[in-house]
Amino acid sequence: MCGIVGYVGARECTEVLLNSLSKLEYRGYDSAGIAVFENGEIKTQKSKGKIADLVAKMDSEGKLMGHCGIGHTRWATHGEPSDINSHPHGNANVTIVHNGIIENYKKIKEFLEKKGYVFESETDTETVAKLLDCFYEGNPIATIQRVLDEVEGSYALGIMFRDYPNRIYAVRKDSPLIVAVGDDEAFIASDVPAVLKYTKKYYLLDQDEIAVLDSGRVEFFDDHGAPIKKQLLVADFDEEAAKKGNYPHYMIKEIHDQPTAIRTTITPRITDGMPDLEECGMTYDRLRDYNNIFVVACGTAMHAGLVGKYVIEKIARISVTVDVASEFRYRDPILTDKDLVILVSQSGETADTLEALRLAKRNGADTLSIVNVKGSSIARESDMVIYTHAGPEISVASTKAYMVQLSVFYLIAFALAYANDKMTAEECRRLTAQLQAVPEQIEEILKTPEDCQYVASQLVNAENLLYIGRGLDYALSMEGSLKLKEISYIHSESYAAGELKHGTISLVTDEMPVIAVATQRDLYDKTISNVKEVKARGAYVVLVTHDSKEVDNDVADCKIGLPTIDDLLMPMTAVVPLQLIAYYTSVLRGNDVDKPRKLAKSVTVE
Ligand code: G6P
Repeated sequence: MCGIVGYVGARECTEVLLNSLSKLEYRGYDSAGIAVFENGEIKTQKSKGKIADLVAKMDSEGKLMGHCGIGHTRWATHGEPSDINSHPHGNANVTIVHNGIIENYKKIKEFLEKKGYVFESETDTETVAKLLDCFYEGNPIATIQRVLDEVEGSYALGIMFRDYPNRIYAVRKDSPLIVAVGDDEAFIASDVPAVLKYTKKYYLLDQDEIAVLDSGRVEFFDDHGAPIKKQLLVADFDEEAAKKGNYPHYMIKEIHDQPTAIRTTITPRITDGMPDLEECGMTYDRLRDYNNIFVVACGTAMHAGLVGKYVIEKIARISVTVDVASEFRYRDPILTDKDLVILVSQSGETADTLEALRLAKRNGADTLSIVNVKGSSIARESDMVIYTHAGPEISVASTKAYMVQLSVFYLIAFALAYANDKMTAEECRRLTAQLQAVPEQIEEILKTPEDCQYVASQLVNAENLLYIGRGLDYALSMEGSLKLKEISYIHSESYAAGELKHGTISLVTDEMPVIAVATQRDLYDKTISNVKEVKARGAYVVLVTHDSKEVDNDVADCKIGLPTIDDLLMPMTAVVPLQLIAYYTSVLRGNDVDKPRKLAKSVTVE
């Protein structure tokens, strides 16, 4: 989604803004722009397309020169991607960049039009810029507060007033924004990686707090305008962690990051071979308390929850309902104070997941979040948080975040099963040790990507594809299918293997390849029967299963073998070839792997 940056300090600010914006490209965008104080005037340059298009414009029109400015990458919501709709918006007096959605923008626009304001763009953002101009009487903070009283919706705003050159004002509600500080310089950004080249020190802006940045200092004010002190944080990763290194794409780098990410996530949560979640508030007493569990998330994070459901229900015998957050919010779920709602989110800022969390809290349920970004809104608002330690995930298609989310679900499931006397300590230790063995197995799988490359070469011209599996394999194949469609743009669906013959098998021809996942031994023969059914209808079949399984040519055209581990943990290793197949297929199709069309990494609007 939209990315915001801002800089004030001694450096040449256009360079800083462009560099920082480039670090936010991963969020997804369709236009870019900056506004800079040049000789005391606010000057703006913006362009539809990529940052490179903005740079080309600068090359022909001349670069804005100054030491204070704001920048933006826009992911269109109100109005198509165009030069006019790109941010910054405003006039010579006040100029802003905005992430979020102003829900009552039509009402504000009518109010402003009556006062004679003329609108250029179709954006909701322009109404905020003009309202600031309309209310401005010389005091920026009072003006911002008056505007915020009028606007409904979500926002992170970077604002510059002509009367206050070399100063940036920033405020946010339900959209992320950080304020970072270096030596005699300050920044705003949607995310920490945007500023890591310059500093690791930052503040998290809270709801409706206002920050005022100038080169020497940063001040914060609460929603009544009173000055406040905030805690300075230091990023626990550096610029290198957010770089591709020698890999051609972030996605393949992040696939290779997975073993380390799992180790870093689970090691501090294992004591004497047993899961230990006390530090996040999940005591064994508390784990005995719950009647029902809900997992609520979006996209890949929701898919991690699907695996979590199978594992928790199987070994802890507690009912788990998995919901897409945008559905959960509006389906009036039945929640009690005996329920646990688990919110899963890499970014910790997904708008629907955040609102689902607030709904769960209003209904008295306990809330636990599994979040990757420290200090993000979901982490801060939930009763308990388990941070995953994947490091920054830059590729839009999530891989390592999913993997660490899975690893946390296993720890929760083991702890729940043990706490509720559904598993002995010995069995709990055995499974925990198996979980600890997963990273090494993934390292082995990653040494030989050739089979996946071969499969990708067979799929590259497909227009439709099916993933099938049963039980845990079905849950996993949902993620495999999503990965492929996100980045290769091949239409694909995931089906419960046993359900195929109730309709979908009518689509299977020699033009519909099928990827079958069969890692659960108790269901293996049943899945293979379904595989034979699609093979008999001409499908090219790839079978993902154990190394040890002999597979005849008349069952599958290609087998991808996986090392042996407890069947319960197979999703953690079986997902790796599915990630690789999606990756190599996307590469072969010449797609922009890390920034697939139309997608955003962090969806901060509903
Ligand atoms: C977007 C991303 C997905 C991600 C989903 C949820 O759609 O493109 O990769 O799974 O949001 O994001 P979250 O940050 O909440 O995990």
